[in-house]
Amino acid sequence: MKNIIAFSGSTRASSFHTRILRALQEMSPADVKVDVFDLSDVPFYNEDRDNDRAPAAVQSLRSTVEAADGVIFAAPEYNFSYSALTKNTIDWLTRPKGAGVLRDKKIALICVTPGPSGGKNVSKAMSDLLPFFGNTIVATVTASGITDKIAPDSAVITEAELKADLAGVLAAF
Ligand SMILES: Cc1cc2nc3c(=O)[nH]c(=O)nc-3n(C[C@H](O)[C@H](O)[C@H](O)COP(=O)(O)O)c2cc1C
Repeated sequence: MKNIIAFSGSTRASSFHTRILRALQEMSPADVKVDVFDLSDVPFYNEDRDNDRAPAAVQSLRSTVEAADGVIFAAPEYNFSYSALTKNTIDWLTRPKGAGVLRDKKIALICVTPGPSGGKNVSKAMSDLLPFFGNTIVATVTASGITDKIAPDSAVITEAELKADLAGVLAAF
């Protein structure tokens, strides 16, 4: 069994990224388990709090990733790059310097946009950043016009190509 931990870089109630992660959970074959970690309780990174008494949500975040076989970042594109929530998650996971729990993890990226960019800028930003921490990016899915590829307020992927790409993410682990 492969245990995969997934993060949505958006806490928006109807977030496309969160809904895509739900779709992935529903599509997972029997030997892959995708858990979506709720980032809403994780505070902004603060080096003063990064010690033995780190916030409970941070301890949980780190131990969950440490135990996982792979990580999925479903990362919205904000101003041509990652959202603060995605970056904050990476910041907590990459300390202590050189010994963060993201080291040696297989990582998949999912970056979609309602507009034409298709998450190309954020997926590039993530692809440039993550290898510095000793990670391997095993799959990247980008899609533009996402409003037409997932049914409203649901986790139902309506476009065959996107569905196949997401199946590829699960297979990549
Ligand atoms: C602060 C902000 C900046 C954004 N910048 C971009 C951008 O640079 N490129 C783009 O294609 N979409 C941009 N968008 C639109 C997002 O791609 C869109 O809101 C998307 O639905 C966010 O992901 P979510 O549905 O998971 O919340 C931006 C949205 C916000 C709120």
